[in-house]
Amino acid sequence: MTVKDFGITKDGIATKLYTLKNNNLEISVTDFGSTLVSIVVPDRNNKPTDIVLGYDDVSGYETDDGYYFGCNVGRCANRIARGHFVLNNTEYNLDINNGPNNLHSGLNPYSKRVWTVENQNDTSITFSLESPHMDQGFPGALKMYVTYELLEDGFKINYNATPDKDTIINVTNHSYFNLNGEGSGTVLNHSVKIYADSFTPADETSIPTGEIEAVKDTPMDFNNFKTIGQDINKDYIPLKYANGYDHNWITDPTDSKLHNIMDAVGDVSGIEMKISTNCPGVQMYTANFVENVKGKKGHIYNVREAVCFEPQYYPDAINHDNFVSPVCKAGCTYNKDIIYKF
Ligand code: GAL
Repeated sequence: MTVKDFGITKDGIATKLYTLKNNNLEISVTDFGSTLVSIVVPDRNNKPTDIVLGYDDVSGYETDDGYYFGCNVGRCANRIARGHFVLNNTEYNLDINNGPNNLHSGLNPYSKRVWTVENQNDTSITFSLESPHMDQGFPGALKMYVTYELLEDGFKINYNATPDKDTIINVTNHSYFNLNGEGSGTVLNHSVKIYADSFTPADETSIPTGEIEAVKDTPMDFNNFKTIGQDINKDYIPLKYANGYDHNWITDPTDSKLHNIMDAVGDVSGIEMKISTNCPGVQMYTANFVENVKGKKGHIYNVREAVCFEPQYYPDAINHDNFVSPVCKAGCTYNKDIIYKF
């Protein structure tokens, strides 16, 4: 493990960048947001390649305007319709920060706070964050732990929290992958496979209609490898509404087991990534709203130059009785893994 300064926040807090390394990969994470800053893996010619978009120092992450590069998004990732839900007969109202809806928990995200380092060693680091009762508008106090752990051929992120009241918990990692290397252009020629037979169609504001639709014979079918670009411009309403792929696929409606959710291959680099998780769904988002963003090493990022795979509970799940419930009961432990292999 190496530790470097990552810059000082506007409030004068010094942040750090922690790098974990083995023979196969290197990841760097910062205590600002517990954010994943880089993943470096060898390409087909053994050239070390950083495959996630991001910024050179903390100021980029602090001023990030709604992209969430590498962030751990919480307490509830994705959208809640009109920022409104009812839990145990009590109404809750959250920030409205995305059209008429709440996105990624609103204006005070976990990703813009400085986290505490709880533990660190050569192969793992654990960050924690105290999230009090009514933080962002959610009931229940909890301490969220995020652990990054190197594996032989990849790494794992674990999320762990035990709330003192019933609440929603749905944390994910929002890395933007470009398997040919960040800043190298489009991902439309990446091949992707998603292990899912159905998805949750949504309205123009990306709130699920509540239907669960089969992917068969639609552009949403990624059960066999195909390029991201193959069907992305098809005349198909879900793609038109979202300006590309920005949808939730159902990978395990039982919400219980660790399972493969997707594989992706960079066409130029030959780098292959596989993700498994015990979350019930995954949002694939093709960077539809990224425009002229100044990132690492002066690289400028644009639309379709990265793809996010966000394991999660389904969007707006709290408002759909037929979706797997994102409620974590008082005293129960939320314990979710995302495993990335290369
Ligand atoms: C994704 C979401 C997109 C977009 C993005 C952040 O998770 O599905 O619609 O808001 O986050 O820019």
